Amino acid sequence: MAKKAKGGKTYRIAVLPGDGTGPEVVREAVKVMDAASEKYGFRTEKVHYDLGGERYKRTGEVCPESCVAELRGFDAILLGAIGHPDVKPGILEKGLLLKLRFDLDQYINLRPVRLFPGVDSPIKDKGPEHIDYAVVRENSGDVYTGVGGVTQKGTPNEVATQVMIYNRFQVDRCLRYAFEYARRYGKKARGKGEHNTLGLVGKTNVLTYVYDLWERAFHEMGDKLYPDVKRDYYHVDATCMWMVKSPEWFDVLVTGNMFGDIITDLAAMTQGGMGIAAGGNLNPEGVSMFEPIGGSAPKYTGKNVINPLAAICAMQMMLEHLGLDEAAKGVDAAVRKVTGTKLKSLAAGKMGYSTTEVGDLVAGMLA
Ligand code: IPM
Ligand code: MN
Repeated sequence: MAKKAKGGKTYRIAVLPGDGTGPEVVREAVKVMDAASEKYGFRTEKVHYDLGGERYKRTGEVCPESCVAELRGFDAILLGAIGHPDVKPGILEKGLLLKLRFDLDQYINLRPVRLFPGVDSPIKDKGPEHIDYAVVRENSGDVYTGVGGVTQKGTPNEVATQVMIYNRFQVDRCLRYAFEYARRYGKKARGKGEHNTLGLVGKTNVLTYVYDLWERAFHEMGDKLYPDVKRDYYHVDATCMWMVKSPEWFDVLVTGNMFGDIITDLAAMTQGGMGIAAGGNLNPEGVSMFEPIGGSAPKYTGKNVINPLAAICAMQMMLEHLGLDEAAKGVDAAVRKVTGTKLKSLAAGKMGYSTTEVGDLVAGMLA
């Protein structure tokens, strides 16, 4: 049964198209969201925010505090991409993307890794039944906190540090989310395996403080609250190996911010690349932000060739997060039909369709 907007809850969505191809892909995601809202009977109010490299160049401002305050009032945020060829690396990333993640305390970065039908994985002989897991990346701590510094810069004695930092509170709240996620969306819960399994990805053989904390917290919480969820542990380097060799071993993985950043780019490639990979920056108690994992792809900007499916999948995650389960399932099925029966490739310019046509196809499959 499609969910009807009872008495009309209107979901307020902040739309941040951002830089490069961001606006083109977000337009298609909004198109599909509008088609879903029509079909499943929910309402949205969209407010666009002009943030990113162009605005920074014009005004010197990346993301004013007033903007962050406004964003707190939305039900969710949909982000396109940030990154501008004329802006020094770090300014927009820190000033906008990381600022929003931190200020809105979006402490989970959820990245599903699913190979859709019809999509070629670069891993030989692996199909949708093999590449079907999720990474829960901690999103508020680790080397991303900026603790560290530099002395004697520019001299032969220069010293630089950037500290991997975690407290028990951050680790526990991330693990709690990951266990709950495994219980609800693990392979057993989805009828695809005997267990719901949560795998901790760490480096306990070298990072004997930080990942020791993670490992103890993981088993304490598992023993006490989640005895039904099977637990595994993998070193991060071995994880990379198995993500290529035997991705079917994985169900739900949980890890710190830096390892999570790195392994999810590898994972994205195994599921067909940046054209399809999406993620959610979640604050389960606050406002969450959904984004395609890929960057702003400046060389494709304005050409109507970029693949909008990652943005559409990010929007799909947003619907699921908002509790619009039927609509989320509908969009997921429509995307699968489009990859399975229409697209020649997921790569920009090689899809056999333009950006707008791919959006039309997904919206059309929903009708
Ligand atoms: C990501 C990106 C960001 C990160 C960058 C742009 C700061 O790589 O979302 O994975 O490192 O988290
Ligand atoms: Mn990354």
